[in-house]
Amino acid sequence: MAPVPLTEDPAARFKKAAGEYAANLVEAGMVVGLGTGSTAIHAVRRIAARLHTGELSGIVGVATSLATLHAARELGIPLLDDDLPRAVDITIDGADEVDPGFNAIKGGGGALLREKIVAQASRRLVLVVDERKRVSQLGTTWALPVEVMQFGSSAQLRFLAELGATVRLRRQPDGSLFVTDNHNWIVDCRFGPIADPAGLAQQLGARAGIVEHGLFLGLAADLIVADSSGICHLTVSG
Ligand code: A5P
Repeated sequence: MAPVPLTEDPAARFKKAAGEYAANLVEAGMVVGLGTGSTAIHAVRRIAARLHTGELSGIVGVATSLATLHAARELGIPLLDDDLPRAVDITIDGADEVDPGFNAIKGGGGALLREKIVAQASRRLVLVVDERKRVSQLGTTWALPVEVMQFGSSAQLRFLAELGATVRLRRQPDGSLFVTDNHNWIVDCRFGPIADPAGLAQQLGARAGIVEHGLFLGLAADLIVADSSGICHLTVSG
């Protein structure tokens, strides 16, 4: 894997700092959920580096996307079977927005379904973000990603618009539709600040054809935020 380029972009530096800090929470023998995205990849790389120096041993990873699976394989991290035969001790993943209660919007990279499966199977979910991701209310800066089956997708677009969102089927830069690792599509739903995330999650969860949504509510135990003053490690217990 190519080395991380040196960059002057502060956000990129903060992502690296947060990801690498979280990788140090992994202990020998753990089953580790490996998150997806430009922040989580730094945790994956640091875990691999710790394995290779012998500082860490006996861990096994669970990838939250095919991209992370390929990266982990390339880095030599042993991986658990896809059916998750063991509970996950710790998962380190990024987020697009995080509120003061550690509730998050995820799915900017389209991996929300596998990310949520792994998060819910984990004893401890650690979110790693740079300072720009913190918001007072979810939905303030980010559209909520909703993974839908291709069958009936236009009906889902109408349903999501009726819930008050401005909706857009996600596309690749070349204009083709973005297809998830699970062969579904993503609808990006701009709600603006979401007054009742739990209520919205319930409505989305009850709809056939909506496979999963990017609201991660009450799942994270730790939040690691990097900014120009350094790393802040917050835990739900305070
Ligand atoms: C992947 O689908 C996402 O949930 C990412 O974890 C999230 O979008 C954060 O990504 P970055 O760390 O790249 O900003």
